[in-house]
Amino acid sequence: MKKVIFDTDIGIDDAMALLFLHHSPEVELVAITTGFGNASVNTTTRNALYVKGLFNLNAAVYAGASMPIGNYLGEGYPDFVHGKNGLGDIPLTTPVLKSERTKAAQAIVELAKANPHELSIVAVGRLTNLALALELHPELPLLVKELIVMGGVFGYNGHRGNVSPVAEANIAGDPTAADIVFTSGIPTTIVGLDVTAETVMSEAYIAQLRQRAGASGEFIYQISRFYLNFYEKISGKAECPIHDASAVAYLLNPELYRTEAAVVRVATEGIGIGQTIHDSTRRTYATKDWLNRPACNICVGVDAPGVLAMYMSTLSS
Ligand code: BDR
Ligand code: CA
Repeated sequence: MKKVIFDTDIGIDDAMALLFLHHSPEVELVAITTGFGNASVNTTTRNALYVKGLFNLNAAVYAGASMPIGNYLGEGYPDFVHGKNGLGDIPLTTPVLKSERTKAAQAIVELAKANPHELSIVAVGRLTNLALALELHPELPLLVKELIVMGGVFGYNGHRGNVSPVAEANIAGDPTAADIVFTSGIPTTIVGLDVTAETVMSEAYIAQLRQRAGASGEFIYQISRFYLNFYEKISGKAECPIHDASAVAYLLNPELYRTEAAVVRVATEGIGIGQTIHDSTRRTYATKDWLNRPACNICVGVDAPGVLAMYMSTLSS
């Protein structure tokens, strides 16, 4: 059984990832920690509680960061991608459930201490909560089993940034936090746009999910209308990448991905702000910025049909 903390700015693809975790028999979801990103932290926390109530999740919900710790790229929230309510503007009732009193960063530290070497953290939003947790407890890297991050882009498979030519939204939303986390020594795998943009759900796939996956399939069908519409405007095709669920796919079956070890730094200012810059060569450069830093595992290739098949079968079971 994998004990999982899901750290999320719960919007549409985050909700798809959360239901993937929920349906996996291998996962014990111990907590959901929320942060700003796709919407404000109040909205993402409400969304986490809403999904928790709708699907009877056991996990406790901890509200987290409301703003980045450093410079960032962009203004406002991407309501043109996820809708104003973060869930494709489907009607939502007010959740009856409440979040815990403990803040997300503190909860991550406490849970890691209580479950040493057992926790997998799947982080699919800004890395602010984790950077704050590292500040609270610098020994966190020694306690966490693994961290899987959806974020960044390294230029593999022809992919570029989605909020600038070089930057991906989760990293650009708090580059300083990402740089702290990627150089912290937590055993980290980065599932970036290089592979998430390769893994797309078509309208037909979602229709099949709706038929086979009961209430979860229906919910995904409803929230994905807005998301598909956004991506159709960009690509001309009725299909959407499954960014955040890809991090869960890696957790459940890493063999679906090809990875490389690399030291990853993040540009925290200038026109390249939010860029994830990796070095897998271990060369001696004029700069020492990549020297003697812990390496991350970055995903450079994916068996996309395999990921889609696993998602369908997990949700349908
Ligand atoms: C990431 O940004 C958010 O919009 C998505 O939820 C995903 O985590 C993709 O760049
Ligand atoms: Ca997300």
